[in-house]
Formats: sequence, C-alpha cells, structure tokens
Amino acid sequence: MAWKGIIQEYRSYLPISDKTPVVTLNEGNTPLIHAPRLSELAHADVFLKFEGLNPTGSFKDRGMTLALSKAKEDGAKIVICASTGNTSAAAAAYAAKAGLRCVVLIPEGKIALGKLSQALIHHAKVIAIKGNFDVALTIIRELSSLESVAVVNSINPFRIEGQKTGAFEVCDQLGGKAPDYHVIPVGNAGNITAYWKGYKEYHQKGNISSRPVMLGFQAKGAAPIVLGKIVQKPETIATAIRIGNPAGWKTALAARDESGGKIDAVTDKEILKAYKWLAENEGIFAEPASASGVAGILKLARHKFFTKKQAGAKRSTVVCILTGHGLKDPDQAIKSSKKIHQVPANKEAVMKAMRG
Ligand code: F0G
Repeated sequence: MAWKGIIQEYRSYLPISDKTPVVTLNEGNTPLIHAPRLSELAHADVFLKFEGLNPTGSFKDRGMTLALSKAKEDGAKIVICASTGNTSAAAAAYAAKAGLRCVVLIPEGKIALGKLSQALIHHAKVIAIKGNFDVALTIIRELSSLESVAVVNSINPFRIEGQKTGAFEVCDQLGGKAPDYHVIPVGNAGNITAYWKGYKEYHQKGNISSRPVMLGFQAKGAAPIVLGKIVQKPETIATAIRIGNPAGWKTALAARDESGGKIDAVTDKEILKAYKWLAENEGIFAEPASASGVAGILKLARHKFFTKKQAGAKRSTVVCILTGHGLKDPDQAIKSSKKIHQVPANKEAVMKAMRG
C-alpha cells in the first residue's frame, strides 16, 4: 500500500480520533542509508536516517502534520512559531495545506536562504526580529493565549508526538530492532525528546527488546546543556541549532540519563568538516546542523568509543539522524566548496581544466 504519511501509518500510537482532519504531505518513510565509510571510521555499523527527504526538507514535517491536524480540529485560525528556519518552512507548508494562516518569527539575518524562501512562497507572514531564537520563542509564548491561535513550536506536545514516529521507523527499518546508539543534533531539544519517547513506547509495546543509548550534539558556541547554563549569545555556523536556552532542556537531560547516554559539543570547524566529508564520501548532502551528529560520531570514534574491546565481537549499530537537507543552505555549500573553473568556450580549454 502507498505510504500516506505518519498519522495514517502510526495512528494507534498517536492522539488522533476519527474527528481529526488529517493534514498531511505524506511525510515520513525516509530512508535509513548504510554509511560504509563512516562505519569503517567508527568501527560500527552506521546508518544515516535522511530526514532531509521529508516534503519540506527536514524532520519538522513529522511534528507539523500532527500539530496542524490538531490545530484544525481545535478550531484555530492562525498558527504561529519562532524558528531558526526549518520549523517556519514546515509550519508554512502545512498551514497552506490546512487552509490556515501562518505567522513565523525569525532572527533577522540568521536564517538559511532555502528556509526563508519556503516560508515566503507558502505565504506565511514572516516577521524578523533583531534578536535570537530564544527571544523569538519568549515572544511566541506570550502570544499563545490569543484567541484562535495555536503555537506550533515543540512546546506544543503534538509536535513531539509526531516526531516520535522517527524512532518507530528506525526500528521498523532495522527489522524490529532498536539501534545500540542513537546520534542526534540538539538545538531546542524537541527531537531528542521525541525520539526517546518513541523508543520507550515501542519498547513498552514489545516491538523492540532494547532501547538505544542517546548521544546528542550541540554546537560549541551554542551548548547550554553541555555547559549546564543558559548561553545568552549563542553563535554557530549551524544556524538551525543557534539556541541558548532550549525549551526541551529537562526532557533532553532525561533522555540522556535514562538511556545512559551523553550530550556533548562539537566545534564549528568539526561541523563544517563533517558536512563536507559526508557529501564527498557518503553522497549525502545534509545541512550543517545535521552534520553536527556526524561530527559527533567522528569525535567519539577518535576516542574509540564504539570500538569493541573483545576481538570478534559483533559491531554496534549506530543510527544518526540527518535532520535537514543541504539544499536548505546553498550559501554555506558554495562557501565550503572548491571554486568553479571559468574557461573559454572550447574543447581544448575544457580538457585542460579537466586535467588540472
Ligand atoms: N537540525 C535541524 C536541521 C534543525 O532545524 C533543528 C531545529 C535541529 C537539528 C535541532 O532540533 O530543536 O528539536 O533540538 N530547528 C528548529 C527550527 C529550532 O526552528 O527550525 P531540536
């Protein structure tokens, strides 16, 4: 049967009734891609779940299908959110599908071009503030009690409910097994919260016999959870996770501690290196924030974290969530790459350039 989106697929796990109007773009069912070169470096079997292949190019679609369906069911007229870009793109698209208005609040000048273009083309009202994501989210919280308004940030529990289906898919794709390790970037900490919830529920239902160790990665300049304190002026090249006071802080800590995992930081240099490495060696173009998970794997691999001490022991299975597509941020891709070779329009010049 054709895939009809995560609500249809995982209906019995979601707070949905026959009365809920399902707003979907057939999100989910993203591929779990084996990464042979990364596996070799990590001494583990590494799989990349490419969430950039969702309809709006990021994992946010999983939460947004549920948030918009419930907003519509509850009679909201306008959905609002603060965003570093991907949430706004998904909110705008799903609001368009639902026939609701959408207002997005973004930090001026700190949104990747692709994401901004999405919010605009889906006809959201885009409001840019001279402040970061944390300030924008504070304003959104203050507006949440307005009549007919639904907040669709991950403080909306339906977002988490939808996003937990990512964990279900991982286990289904691994043949009814949880991975040993689950690697994920952490920004506002909604996704790590959602995945851990998903794994726990699948475990309780008896669909999997174990739960993974959760390994979250923040960017060094925006690593409040790692530092244990709010970062007033978060800075990182990975604009999607440029967040200093995550809404899901407590639940991220719970995911870490209940799973025996860790939340660590990677530098912008490590993120950019992993971003390019992934594109060049595994053929996958993910956005910089997504590459922070890969940077995390490479960092842990340097410390032989995944390496089994006993000779001949079975390798660990590692799943890394690539949260957003690289095309979201074309500026960064061009800035990070080799130059274009400009040559005269003839065969000899092209051949010379080919060999050079
Ligand atoms: N990766 C990407 C590509 C993101 O866009 C985000 C968050 C994250 C990772 C982190 O996920 O917040 O659940 O911990 N983006 C939000 C936004 C903040 O507004 O688009 P998280």
